[in-house]
Amino acid sequence: MIPLFKVRMSDRASEDVAQVLASGFIGQGTVVDQFEDQLWVALGTRTKPVTVNSCTAAIDLALELINLQPGDEVITTPQTCFATNVGPIHRGAVIKWADIDPFTGLIDPISVKKLITPKTKAIIGVNWAGKFCDYAALKKHGIPVIEDAAHSWESFIEDKNSLDRGDYICYSFQAIKFLTAGDGGILVCPKKDIPVAKMLRWYGLDRTKNESFRCTQNITRAGFKYHMNNINAAIGIANIPEAAESVIKARENSAFYIKHVHNKNYILPQWDEKHSYWLFSMHILQNKRDQFVRYMREFGVEASPVHFRNDQYDCTAQYSPCRTPCCQRTFQHTHHEQHHCFLRPIRSRP
Ligand SMILES: Cc1ncc(COP(=O)(O)O)c(C=O)c1O
Repeated sequence: MIPLFKVRMSDRASEDVAQVLASGFIGQGTVVDQFEDQLWVALGTRTKPVTVNSCTAAIDLALELINLQPGDEVITTPQTCFATNVGPIHRGAVIKWADIDPFTGLIDPISVKKLITPKTKAIIGVNWAGKFCDYAALKKHGIPVIEDAAHSWESFIEDKNSLDRGDYICYSFQAIKFLTAGDGGILVCPKKDIPVAKMLRWYGLDRTKNESFRCTQNITRAGFKYHMNNINAAIGIANIPEAAESVIKARENSAFYIKHVHNKNYILPQWDEKHSYWLFSMHILQNKRDQFVRYMREFGVEASPVHFRNDQYDCTAQYSPCRTPCCQRTFQHTHHEQHHCFLRPIRSRP
């Protein structure tokens, strides 16, 4: 059976990690700096990425940079991993669930517009499956837009400057992502925020100062323990070429599905030149889901539900659920990296 998720690990990762382990310095050091340099080239981001220890941390750091306060409103999507929404919840923000496009799973800019109030402090879009949200539309309101790019990897896009992106972009290097560092992530933020982000990821201290930074610096803004270490950075560096290969393979497999799957019960995504296809996400009629899973399994491809819509958890019951039309429709997904698939029902618990 082709598994749903698989860790793609470079052969050289163990040797590179062994070197770090033997070096006597396993915390945040020069290997992390090298990883940031290499990610900047691989992803072609407008500013140099700031590494952190997860995408969840990157999102929270972005919320800190925009100074999200209790009672502020955050417009976000229920169609995601809960990681997207834990930051605003922990900060006491009021979640406003926007509707999604029923065929792509992406946050709907029209629905977002209707939810904006003077209290709206941030909009969060998720590049569901690896497809970019309409960031040009989301950014029209002058409200900071956080882009959850955990599913994205755009090494294959030549003209990266042509992409509309969020103001704060958060990637994940967790085990099963295109690029794994074991765990980790980056925040890509406006240039002016980079020095602050770097201090906040390590308690509020500036590690670039040569002096004894633990004892000589005053902490003016309490930070977090969000930094990346040399061990994870070494794994990440070793896997950058693997990530580029994985995204090419995932896109080839997606093109194959789009060409060959024809069934009135399935609405497949349209081919998108800028889509990473970390997931292959499909709209399937509700009562056909189990049948589809069985069908894929007969062909040796694992298929199963994945994320549960975030507005239906007990811990999000305090916010108004997403009552808008598309979220109420049956929406399911398949995923694959190498013909790996999953699908999920949006209305029932996993
Ligand atoms: C859309 C999305 N955002 C965020 C995350 C969290 O990433 P991390 O584990 O790096 O915090 C995930 C994890 O799978 C995800 O799917």
